[in-house]
Amino acid sequence: MSKTFLSRLDWRFATKKFDPDKKVSQENLNQVLKAIRMAPTSKGVQPWHVVVIQGQGLKRKLYPASKEQDQVISCQYLLVFCMRLDIAQRSQDYVSLIEQADPVVKVRHEQLSKNMQGFAERKITQGLEAWAARQTYLALGFGLAACAELEIDSCPMEGFQPGEVDKVLELPDHLKSLAYLAVGYRRAGPKRPKVRYPESDLFSWK
Ligand SMILES: Cc1cc2nc3c(=O)[nH]c(=O)nc-3n(C[C@H](O)[C@H](O)[C@H](O)COP(=O)(O)O)c2cc1C
Repeated sequence: MSKTFLSRLDWRFATKKFDPDKKVSQENLNQVLKAIRMAPTSKGVQPWHVVVIQGQGLKRKLYPASKEQDQVISCQYLLVFCMRLDIAQRSQDYVSLIEQADPVVKVRHEQLSKNMQGFAERKITQGLEAWAARQTYLALGFGLAACAELEIDSCPMEGFQPGEVDKVLELPDHLKSLAYLAVGYRRAGPKRPKVRYPESDLFSWK
C-alpha cells in the first residue's frame, strides 16, 4: 500500500534545523501550494495570501523579528501566511470567479452579489480578523499535511512579531501576517518522542 498522510503522522515533526544542502523540488513545492490553494474556506472567499520566500536576503531580514529562530534561515522556503481584510472587494471578486466557472449560474448576478455583500457586512461587524485568521490557519493545516504526505519537513510558526514582518515584506494594509510554514528537509531528527494528550482527554463520545 502506498504511504499516505496518515502513515506519516509519527514521522513528521516541527523541524527546528533544516539541511541547507537538501533541496525541495519545484514540483513538490507546487504540490504543497496546490494543497494550500484547495483548502476550504467559509463561503469560499479565501481571505488569505501566502508570500513564498526563497531568497536568503529576505529571510535574514525576517530573522530578528522571528525570535532569531534557526528555521527562518535554514529552511528552503519560508511561506508567510497572511490574512486578508479587504473582505468587501474580495467577496465581489468571488462573484466574478463563480460566474466564470459556471457561465449558466442559476442565481442572477444581482442576487449573488447582494448575498455576498451581506456576508461581507456581517463579517465586518462580527469580528472580521478572527474569522479571516481561522480561514488562514486552515490553509496552513493543509500545507502542513501536504508536506507530511510528500515526506517534506516543515515547521509551523507563529513566534514572530507580525507588525515588524509586515513592514519587512512591505505588505499592503489589507494583508496581516499570521503564521509561517518553514519548508525543507531536516538536518536532525526530533529531540524527544512525540507528546500528545490521550484520546480520552481529546475526544468524548455521546
Ligand atoms: C500555530 C503554530 C505555531 C507554532 N509556532 C512555533 C514556533 O514559532 N517555533 C517553533 O519552533 N515551533 C512552533 N510550533 C510547533 C509546535 O511547537 C509543535 O507543532 C508542537 O510542539 C507539536 O510538536 P510536533 O509538531 O513536532 O508534533 C508551532 C505550531 C503551531 C501549530
